[in-house]
Amino acid sequence: MNILIMGAPGSGKGTMSARIVQKFNLTHISTGDIFRSEIKNETELGKTAKSYIEKGLLVPDSVTNPMVVSFLEKNNIENGYLLDGYPRTLAQAEVYGELIKNSSLEIDLVINLDVNYEIIKERITGRWMSPEGKIYHVKYNPPKVEGICDVSGSQLFQRKDDTLESVVVRLEEYDNNTKPVLEFYAKQGKLVNIDGERSMDEVFADIEKLLEKK
Ligand code: AP5
Repeated sequence: MNILIMGAPGSGKGTMSARIVQKFNLTHISTGDIFRSEIKNETELGKTAKSYIEKGLLVPDSVTNPMVVSFLEKNNIENGYLLDGYPRTLAQAEVYGELIKNSSLEIDLVINLDVNYEIIKERITGRWMSPEGKIYHVKYNPPKVEGICDVSGSQLFQRKDDTLESVVVRLEEYDNNTKPVLEFYAKQGKLVNIDGERSMDEVFADIEKLLEKK
């Protein structure tokens, strides 16, 4: 089973992805996570990506597409994948469509988490992360001890692009570039919209039902 998870920044893609890959044993591919790892390792790709990400802008397709191709080449995907945060421009969707055409990587389903922008702003500005990628929220999913990851004991931090100023730019990028991608998959009959404004458990229960039917 190969799935895309889409939705505006902060709609809950990363949170749901963690639960989906665990339950359905899929390979999680998050372009945002790959970029953050490249930035942490101070690679050339990371340096380029950083200059866009910190402003809330999308990284150019000329950087993002080859990075995804390279990930797929290096990782043997045996039991399907969950792609999170890609494609998010029409050009990316077209390039990816060509790449996976008639292969075992063809997309079965596109899940879109629908959340209004006022909720998004509260979710993003209240998000805290562990260095290992576990996602918390001060109100909706707080750690047991403030500022410390329940699992690893590491110090939590806020992403540099999680400021209100950056969120406004990210939502503009989403409106201008990513919404047309939803239309692209709707036309292929692959898109399913999920109300992402409910609790994490309720959203995941809907996703589970959907995937169990596949
Ligand atoms: P990326 O890392 O993909 O960020 P994003 O799309 O902006 O999404 P987020 O990670 O911010 O949010 P999310 O939807 O995963 O929400 P989460 O589960 O954390 O990309 C970052 C940047 O990289 C981009 O801006 C761009 O520059 C670049 N980039 C990445 N991919 C690219 C591409 N393909 N092309 C070009 N550039 C690219 O949840 C958010 C918060 O809400 C958390 O605190 C969580 O605890 C809480 N929460 C989640 N669900 C619920 C719920 N149901 N109820 C209450 N709270 C909830």
